[in-house]
Amino acid sequence: MRDIKGTTSVCGLIGNPVAHSISPLIHNTLAQLRGDDFVYVPFKVEENRVEEAVKGAYALNVLGMNVTVPHKQHVLQTLVEVDSIAQAIGAVNTLVRTTKDGISGYKGYNTDILGLERELEDIGLSLKDREVVLLGAGGAARAIAFLCVQKGAAQVVILNRTVSKAESIANAVNLYFNQSSVRAMDINDYDKMGVNDYIAIQTTSVGLHPNNDDVIIRDDQFYKNAAAGVDIIYNPSITAFMKLMDKHGKPAYNGLKMLLYQGIAAYELWMNCTVTKEMADKIYEVMKKDCFLAFGNEDT
Ligand code: ATR
Repeated sequence: MRDIKGTTSVCGLIGNPVAHSISPLIHNTLAQLRGDDFVYVPFKVEENRVEEAVKGAYALNVLGMNVTVPHKQHVLQTLVEVDSIAQAIGAVNTLVRTTKDGISGYKGYNTDILGLERELEDIGLSLKDREVVLLGAGGAARAIAFLCVQKGAAQVVILNRTVSKAESIANAVNLYFNQSSVRAMDINDYDKMGVNDYIAIQTTSVGLHPNNDDVIIRDDQFYKNAAAGVDIIYNPSITAFMKLMDKHGKPAYNGLKMLLYQGIAAYELWMNCTVTKEMADKIYEVMKKDCFLAFGNEDT
């Protein structure tokens, strides 16, 4: 049992549902490893009560918050400041106490992209000058498209079933960076992309447990043409998409490290600290064990 005292810093997660979130495990393990006087708790918040929740948290001296589905967009209206790239993405997942122009409240950040950025660094996959194929055009794809251009990708192709959603992301990213390296295509036209040796990032919910055998593109050629694949799904730990990459000798990674590092990036913002790679590795092991117990996953 942790020693919670009058001095303990409190951070939390607002979302709905929050019961199965892995974030408390990440943050509380991190606090324990670092010896920080810190505790992290989940708060289930109904959709129409986000503003009350954020104001209440500030009044309660809550140090910081994570924000998850379905509040990542709506919460923007409750903030006194938003980090510029998070503003362009249109979604935040981390709130940090701040005072701007004499007004106190929370500043919003998007550490989801910091999470993927660090996962890619960790696995030694650089996006610089690379061609990237994004599968899907939901909230995660939107954040990742911004990251790809920020990291210097030569070209990004967003493939989606609903092309208008992919177009909307492409337009927003091109506008933000004032260039035109992102384009949208119908996912059925994947064989007409005109790119090769690409990094494929799978952001759809296709293949998520319990539909472990589903995959967004089944054609072997797509995987033969790729250089590497990243799936943001981590349950199952080895997705059908990753298996197809592997079948063609291409490295493939799941989304567990992205989840780990988005949490670490938030913790660093709240506690103004740097989490070492050794510590990150330790938490990753704890997360893998927890996933195995929860989902009976194969080892990652
Ligand atoms: P998130 O915000 O977590 O990224 P999301 O907004 O629900 O999730 O996005 C899910 C993505 O998976 C979307 O791109 C969706 O395609 P549409 O935009 O056409 O809805 C994609 N997706 C989900 N199920 C799919 C399926 N069976 N076939 C093709 N695409 C699918």
